[in-house]
Amino acid sequence: MNSAPTHYLECIECHRQYKPSQIYSCPKCGNLLQISYDYDRLRRRLETSLGKAGPLSVWRYQPLLPVPDRRRVTLGEGGTPLPKSMRLANSLGFSGVYFKNDGQNPTGSFKDRGMTVAMTRAVQIGAKEVLCASTGNTSASMAAYAARAGLRATVLVPRGKIAKGKLVQAVAHGAKIQQMSGNFDRALIRARALAATGGLYLVNSLNPYRIEGQKTLAFEVWEQLSRVPDVVILPVGNAGNISAIWKGFCELEWVGLTRRTPRMIGVQAEGAAPITTAYTKGANVALWPHPETVATAIRIGAPASWKKALRAVRDSGGTMLTVSDRQILQAQRLLASKEGIFAEPASSASLAGLLKAARSNLIGRRDSIVCVITGHGLKDQAVVETVR
Ligand code: F0G
Repeated sequence: MNSAPTHYLECIECHRQYKPSQIYSCPKCGNLLQISYDYDRLRRRLETSLGKAGPLSVWRYQPLLPVPDRRRVTLGEGGTPLPKSMRLANSLGFSGVYFKNDGQNPTGSFKDRGMTVAMTRAVQIGAKEVLCASTGNTSASMAAYAARAGLRATVLVPRGKIAKGKLVQAVAHGAKIQQMSGNFDRALIRARALAATGGLYLVNSLNPYRIEGQKTLAFEVWEQLSRVPDVVILPVGNAGNISAIWKGFCELEWVGLTRRTPRMIGVQAEGAAPITTAYTKGANVALWPHPETVATAIRIGAPASWKKALRAVRDSGGTMLTVSDRQILQAQRLLASKEGIFAEPASSASLAGLLKAARSNLIGRRDSIVCVITGHGLKDQAVVETVR
């Protein structure tokens, strides 16, 4: 049994440090927090852990997670496959395209990586009830892990705007569902306000403990490829995941296990692209009051982690792209029919982004490219039925 490594909360902007506690933003300047460690001291511990045989999983990397592995709340998350593209890569002229299929997590999305850590933290601090706002997958994941931990769960979702399969999951796992008018952004404002009154533990991705679980995707990819890929492409909504995966690759470098990091390419839907717009203009993110896209998971106009995301993209030498709903649905069909991977629309944005980047020469033909598949296609069946 391992204790948690010494860690602290650090403001991403003013770098003030705080002891681990239930705060989600810097009390001084209001920016988000991240979890930091003494990386020099962690290398040995991490190497010992990695030296052990055993399957890939989020908890394999416990020496770089801020929670003890005693009393962990787990359903067997992480350790997802990384199949190499055969047919699509060939037809595009790329030699190394891989799909990191996080749709194969216990509740069918990458959210489980973060949720196992956030829920373990919730139990550790004695929380009785957990809360999130969601476009669907976070609520499905939180509901399952809360059930596992024996905690009450409340989810706030935009009415009529989340895929039915995801809502069904939250209901089946016994969460209290509050459907709100308006969009995800409004639900998140409400969730933050509720969490601020105390008593409810917020597990949206502005919770830095969740990010720590999600960063393990980077560690797994590095182990699966036996090297750091050149490019990682993924869909971006609230922007927690791109920040998390980038942090994972940076940490591998900081502990001295790798010497390079990949270029991070974030993909947004044309109708919900506040971060791509800001990136292109070289400006701060401005709110999109009416985000709209068939990829409901990333239908977000006020992304909480936009600063972290812009840094990930700029510091990595990557970029932000937009893709149309048509391109997303086309990519979904290609993934399913040419590679055997059924991804939900938001997840298919990775491949749509790759197709677009391929045309614009952003990526070299010999680059090793990882497209992150964030959620399973079965969650959103209506979109397939209506297209055909
Ligand atoms: N892909 C899927 C399938 C998602 O569910 C999400 C986010 C994203 C990509 C984007 O990740 O927000 O970290 O940039 N879903 C959240 C939810 C917002 O509530 O389930 P992000």
